Amino acid sequence: GCHTLVQTNAAGSLRTDMPPQSLMVLTDHLNLVQRSPLVGTHGNERFVNMIDAYYPELKRLAVHTAHTYGATLFEGVYGWFLGPQFETPAEIRMAKLLGADAVGMSTVPETILARHLGLRVLALSFITNFGAGMSTENLSHAHTLQQAKAGSAAASQLLAHIIAKLP
Ligand code: HPA
Repeated sequence: GCHTLVQTNAAGSLRTDMPPQSLMVLTDHLNLVQRSPLVGTHGNERFVNMIDAYYPELKRLAVHTAHTYGATLFEGVYGWFLGPQFETPAEIRMAKLLGADAVGMSTVPETILARHLGLRVLALSFITNFGAGMSTENLSHAHTLQQAKAGSAAASQLLAHIIAKLP
């Protein structure tokens, strides 16, 4: 009976106007890793249409809800890096050139699988840092956790409002 997947992640921003503590709703993604959870599956259903992979109506709902509560919600493209190491500054410049607004190490395979199963997907990135080389911040897992903790109350509140309105 599950029809909707709401995903959250921590991500690095590639946009100077989208600083740490920002929230971004995914409009699309770049599968930079070129891996798929559907490799090894059979049948024509594996040829999943990835247009509107992030359900436009849910994205609009998120933007509208944020607007209602006076929260800023950016919209952008998420670039998937495999990790677990952070990116190099050159990789960040490449991702930016390719059209990513934020980068992270998750979410894309889950979205592919969810679309394969016919679920509607909404995904939100919590920006914990600027991409490598864009600032003097020292990237680490501890830094990601600390930033996420600092923004968790506001982010959870917005998420709760959005989930309450899910069609
Ligand atoms: N890169 C990849 N994953 C991340 C980052 C980043 O800068 N920040 C949080 N998760």
